[in-house]
Amino acid sequence: MPEPETPQTTAAKKLFVKTYGCQMNVYDSERMAEAMGAEGYVTTDVVEDADMVLLNTCHIREKASEKLYSDLGRLRALKADRPGLKVGVAGCVAQAEGAEILRRSPVVDLVVGPQSYHRLPQMVAAGGRQVDTEFPVEDKFSVLPERKVTRGPAAFLTVQEGCDKFCAFCVVPYTRGAEVSRPVARLLDEARGLVAQGVREITLLGQNVNAYHGAGPTGAMGLAALLREMAKIDGLARLRYTTSHPNDMEDDLIAAHGDLPQLSPYLHLPVQSGSDRILKAMNRKHTAEAYLRLIERIRAVRPDILVSSDFIVGFPGETDRDFQDTMDLIRTVGFGAAFSFKYSARPGTPAAERAPVAVEIADARLQELQALIATQQRAVQEAMVGREVTVIYEKSGRLPGQMVGKSDHLHAVHVQDPEGQIGQLVRVRVSASASNSLAANLLSRIP
Ligand code: SAH
Ligand code: SF4
Ligand code: F3S
Repeated sequence: MPEPETPQTTAAKKLFVKTYGCQMNVYDSERMAEAMGAEGYVTTDVVEDADMVLLNTCHIREKASEKLYSDLGRLRALKADRPGLKVGVAGCVAQAEGAEILRRSPVVDLVVGPQSYHRLPQMVAAGGRQVDTEFPVEDKFSVLPERKVTRGPAAFLTVQEGCDKFCAFCVVPYTRGAEVSRPVARLLDEARGLVAQGVREITLLGQNVNAYHGAGPTGAMGLAALLREMAKIDGLARLRYTTSHPNDMEDDLIAAHGDLPQLSPYLHLPVQSGSDRILKAMNRKHTAEAYLRLIERIRAVRPDILVSSDFIVGFPGETDRDFQDTMDLIRTVGFGAAFSFKYSARPGTPAAERAPVAVEIADARLQELQALIATQQRAVQEAMVGREVTVIYEKSGRLPGQMVGKSDHLHAVHVQDPEGQIGQLVRVRVSASASNSLAANLLSRIP
């Protein structure tokens, strides 16, 4: 049903944001909502109520970027009912396709890239159909308004953006640009601001987060030094970082996993393949052996660390032997979680020019790999039963008196705790392992 007409002078305009893709897009969506908030927009979860719809897109695989066009199809009908509706496309498809989106979709008013979204309010104010996919000289973070809207006790904080690695399959170096690290002082300010609003857990984000090298008071600082500074913030109980590249796992970062109590025993370290031949063709610049040795060194300082990874199957030229090498690597490491994908050829990347693996073969390999990972994931989860863990409550559960939070190992944990408050830290003992979560009993509250 259409909304009753309300005078524009009193009613706030409503913004609906849909986020696809990685955690950095989640962070960017929040920042865009804040930028539009300063212009009088409030966010809504009901797309039919929106005065502006922003689609924050992902270009990583073909399926991800196609979602944009199916959503735009649906918005065309909505715009017919709400002629004043503004439609903006942000994120990595915006960067990759730019003005092509305006040509292809008459419903779109604005196209804005990941490095220029601080200009969104100006673009909206100027009216008309516009595209901005520049990599501007000004730092978007210094233009954006201060963060005010935080949803719950866990927050993301982008510390590094872009990538100079140019893996042969990947669009990120093209959509996000060259690697840039934000200065330490600004990040500490942003983190303190978040903690002042009740945030207890911060995940430092970057496409190559462990390549972080931001300006500090006495020169460039790496990720380990930044984590150590963050750990001094009173009230900040838990720190994480993602996503890392194996070649940037420096000694001091490994050491931090052994001696920084706030740092989660969880490491997402994508390997992509276990075959040296394929790793070389992917331009990953590391071998399977180097990855295994790295995991050994990290486990030596933090034996209970949960290791997670990304895998691509069916990369051009992948033989059955190569795939078996990947399965062997998985068996050797024992992953607690993983994301796995069928290779998707992306226009403009070097691998897109190479002969593809037959789709049935890639499908079968993906299934086989996912079955092995699922077994390992279950085993890691089941090994938590009986253990004492710390949980930060994030929301109430579906059952009365139930709270749901994340453990240090990032498992979802259900706790019966009628007095539980969102944001509270508790010690619990894990009592059971379900398919995607743990159940636990409350032991004590941590102030
Ligand atoms: N910066 C991170 C991840 C970026 S994208 C890293 O370096 O690991 C997230 C994951 O998507 C990648 O790790 C990879 O496994 C997958 N991916 C990227 N491009 C892909 C493609 N063309 N086809 C299939 N999967 C892809
Ligand atoms: Fe893409 Fe490779 Fe850079 Fe990761 S390291 S973002 S996979 S190019
Ligand atoms: Fe997707 Fe861009 Fe993130 S391509 S994965 S939204 S960096």
